[in-house]
Amino acid sequence: MDDGRRGGRRQGSDAATLTRHFGSAAGLLPLWIAEPNVDLADGIRSTLEDRAGAGWYGYETRPDRVVGAFWDWMSTRHAWDGAGVRTSVSPSVGTSIGVLIDQLAGDEAGVIIQPPVFTDFKTIVTDHGRRVVRNPLVLADGGYRMDPDGLAEVAADPTNELMVLCSPHNPVGRVWTEEELVTVATICAEHDVTVLADEIHADLALPPHRFVPFAAAADGSGVRWAATHGPIKTFGLAGVCDTLMITNDDEIADRFASVSSRFHLTRNNVFASAAFETAYRDGQEWLDDLLDLIAHNMALLDAELPDEVDLITPEGTYLAWLDLRALGLDVPEIPRWLASSAGLALSPGHWFGREGAGFARMTVASPTDTIERAAEQLRSAARRRAAPRRDD
Ligand SMILES: Cc1ncc(COP(=O)(O)O)c(C=O)c1O
Repeated sequence: MDDGRRGGRRQGSDAATLTRHFGSAAGLLPLWIAEPNVDLADGIRSTLEDRAGAGWYGYETRPDRVVGAFWDWMSTRHAWDGAGVRTSVSPSVGTSIGVLIDQLAGDEAGVIIQPPVFTDFKTIVTDHGRRVVRNPLVLADGGYRMDPDGLAEVAADPTNELMVLCSPHNPVGRVWTEEELVTVATICAEHDVTVLADEIHADLALPPHRFVPFAAAADGSGVRWAATHGPIKTFGLAGVCDTLMITNDDEIADRFASVSSRFHLTRNNVFASAAFETAYRDGQEWLDDLLDLIAHNMALLDAELPDEVDLITPEGTYLAWLDLRALGLDVPEIPRWLASSAGLALSPGHWFGREGAGFARMTVASPTDTIERAAEQLRSAARRRAAPRRDD
């Protein structure tokens, strides 16, 4: 691991955005957005510079080798060769989920989500006029699990037609096991619920945990599924990159293709194609290095947090889910306290659903000294809070 090479970038750090979310921007360490805050993988920047230097940016057909690079990567890293599936390009994960909800869920259908979970799921469902149906994760013995009985109950309601599964799970960092995914597949197959598996954090399973594609768990269950993938989270390319929608179901693929064609969703961005291909062709070593950095930073954070703050040990993602409940702060107070007392811009847990109240999410794919600094700032804020008032 070469810490010196990592860093220099600052996410979500413009003053207007910070002030909107955290009440102020001054002196805040921003660790709230889910993207790596480290140097890009070798070759991506030079590829983009070369592409910019080409001096022409007109229509371009995306060469097959771009999506080919993704499938080579998936075969090598995740033992999934994509046999029997269809792969569509989509501008973003949000686009794919939105299109699929629009196309697959009846007008007033329920869409099952498992909070605390990535904020946009709820918004996309409600923006499409569908109902959010919650099957909350269960927090027990310091870790999260799914609630299969709860899932079976909501899935049995025929008006609940889709489930958005976050795998690996943002923000709690679970990497679902094959057994857990088979349970989801079996329940959803039995009740005819289509599973949209958002697998955008797939590459970020921390060894020894292993990402299992929903496709593998679904095999033979008869469940209808689609999955989202892409390099945006792994490689920090959300600003330029395309994503993928993958399914083995012809009707889903055809409907997606039809919307894509009607709304011209697949206009090629020449920079996106270049970065996408380079990331998947050349990014193996960089990712291994990043996973080491994440594991190192998580362990350091765990050791250096104040007693009142607990890290829910993640199995994957670069997102540290911090339990702040012992601080005794009111929920709306948490982001303000983090900002004004600890100098940290973190995502408050209630953004991820009411089950996240009292928690906060910190991105640790950052230089180690940044995480050390964040832990130290939390420690001294917690000390001041515990001290008599005159020390405030
Ligand atoms: C699970 C998950 N899905 C989707 C996204 C966003 O993807 P996009 O910007 O392509 O919509 C994120 C971003 O943090 C995420 O964590």
